[in-house]
Amino acid sequence: MSGMRPTAGRLHLGNYHGALKNWVELQGRYRCFFFIADWHALSTMYADTARLRENIRELALDYLAAGLDPERSVIFIQSEVKEHAELHLLFSMFVPLGWLLRVPTYKEQLRQPEGRDLATYGFLGYPVLQAADITIYKADYVPVGQDQLPHLELTREIVRRFNHLYRPVFPEPQALLTEAPVLPGIDGRKMSKSYDNYIPLGAEREEIERLVMAMVTDPQRVKRTDPGDPQRCQVVYAFHRLYSAADLGRIEEGCREAKLGCVECKRLLAQRIEEEQAPIRERRKKLASHPEEVERILARGAERAREVARKTLAEAREAVGLA
Ligand code: TRP
Ligand code: SF4
Repeated sequence: MSGMRPTAGRLHLGNYHGALKNWVELQGRYRCFFFIADWHALSTMYADTARLRENIRELALDYLAAGLDPERSVIFIQSEVKEHAELHLLFSMFVPLGWLLRVPTYKEQLRQPEGRDLATYGFLGYPVLQAADITIYKADYVPVGQDQLPHLELTREIVRRFNHLYRPVFPEPQALLTEAPVLPGIDGRKMSKSYDNYIPLGAEREEIERLVMAMVTDPQRVKRTDPGDPQRCQVVYAFHRLYSAADLGRIEEGCREAKLGCVECKRLLAQRIEEEQAPIRERRKKLASHPEEVERILARGAERAREVARKTLAEAREAVGLA
């Protein structure tokens, strides 16, 4: 079980290589639940919801275009499965405030002086809702990034407390960490929407070419005949490590011996990104022109999710002593 918050519109290659691509592969090995965490998005964006619906739609398109497969996985929108909310409520009764006050994401957000007021009930309870998302499907594994480990640990603590107070209903979920390569943005900082340095998932060919050509290279390689150093070429070479694993040695040598020019080197990279992104782009376009098909997939996903969630919630209510 895993999910992303629909906060930023379209995903980029950093999100794809950092998470989504791995999810696509996991579908072959596990029974998976992937969801769009719209309630979680509200916890930070409650004052600015004009684009929420559009962001949800874009994220659904990205999920499906990247290869999340509704035939194999359960793909749905969080707020369409209200059982998450009731389980969150049950958990909230016994989660000590101290556990929540020491969650790093909570402490960090509060320290940011400018911007949104996140001293809210909903934001403090964010990890409790996340615990409900995971446990309502009795998930064993949760593929997430390093930054989510404290939330996973809290989920395990909540599970232990529930099982101890009432009766053992939930398994303790484990994080599934995969060493995902961190892709830099075209300016060398972390690839991020807020830096405007990203390549969108399913980008057009011309867009890929333009962005790759704009990448910073070895600053000491001024002329074509100057030998370069891939270690000083943080961005292009980092992409090649990912996209050109099979002939990386040839690229490195070409760069060091000035046999390979930067323009040519970038053209090669752009071509490889294009090869990877073309099928994603085509799927995305096709789905975008059939919104009713996407709606049908999400509705069916929510139905399947609900079947499981309803059963777990009944067990939890029974364990707690509710009718
Ligand atoms: N907190 C996660 C993030 O910011 C999103 C999330 C919400 C999630 N509920 C989840 C991830 C349950 C995995 C499982 O990325
Ligand atoms: Fe970077 Fe490639 Fe130019 Fe070398 S040849 S400096 S790796 S862009």
